[in-house]
Amino acid sequence: MVNIGIIGCGRLGTSIAKGWLRRSRHTIHGYDVSPERLAAAEALGIVKHSSLQSLLSQSEVIVVAVKPKSIAEVAEEGAALFQGKLVVSPAALVSLEELQQLFKGAHVVKCMLNIAAEVGESMILYCSSPSCSTHSIDLFEQLFSELGSCIRAAEHLVDLATFIVGCGPACIAYLVEAIAEAGVCIGLPKALSIKLVQQTLKGTAALLQQYSPKEVISKVATPGGVTEQILGRFEEEKLKEILRKSIAETVLTLQQ
Ligand SMILES: NC(=O)c1ccc[n+]([C@@H]2O[C@H](COP(=O)([O-])OP(=O)(O)OC[C@H]3O[C@@H](n4cnc5c(N)ncnc54)[C@H](OP(=O)(O)O)[C@@H]3O)[C@@H](O)[C@H]2O)c1
Repeated sequence: MVNIGIIGCGRLGTSIAKGWLRRSRHTIHGYDVSPERLAAAEALGIVKHSSLQSLLSQSEVIVVAVKPKSIAEVAEEGAALFQGKLVVSPAALVSLEELQQLFKGAHVVKCMLNIAAEVGESMILYCSSPSCSTHSIDLFEQLFSELGSCIRAAEHLVDLATFIVGCGPACIAYLVEAIAEAGVCIGLPKALSIKLVQQTLKGTAALLQQYSPKEVISKVATPGGVTEQILGRFEEEKLKEILRKSIAETVLTLQQ
């Protein structure tokens, strides 16, 4: 059992907490500047702290789940209380060097994950600062593998994972919504259409653990059949290109 402190009980912080609380093995402590978010966190079973110092004094592992712009403020406020602890940052595109400078004397791990942590199915890419001990890396792996699948990677790959792993659930949910809307257009009741797509997504995700995307497509799209016609329309409308360009061009713009 580990005492884990989550600073920032917003979208990601709450998902991570829920992921650990499912197994009820650890005590999850929470602190947020927003009293409403803190009250909502407490209702989930998170131990509420009214100050950062109180949370830090009771937590062995700290997850800093605030927006990148608020990290320096958190580091300054907690100062020496971070020292010697495993400090995990899921903040998009904040460098390990910057994190290590902010959390002096802490064992810093930078990672990218997503809200599927809530159901134990996130992808988690991580890297660590040179001063991070083997014990802290082992502890990170032990705790975060309860939230999904962990892979250690070079820092630039963790940064790139932001756009696939971090943003991924929203992109995929958008496609699910579009297919469910098509179901409504052809006469399915909305709730049923969403349910049909959800279960089809679940089945396809399981198939994709065994087969490549191309193999799944070829198993369904028999020559001259209706799937082939639908996929042909996708190609005509350049759907794949739209998706590829939307992600890649956004990333390139951010990198400039
Ligand atoms: N959301 C995702 O799916 C996702 C995925 C991957 C990575 N991330 C990363 O996770 C981090 C959090 O993102 P999020 O989407 O969860 O943000 P969010 O929903 O805005 O949650 C952040 C929370 O932290 C609070 N906060 C701000 N300053 C604070 C401080 N000094 N001390 C304590 N709490 C403070 C915010 O309160 P106020 O709103 O009042 O400022 C808010 O409740 C970001 O760095 C983001 O890059 C997010």
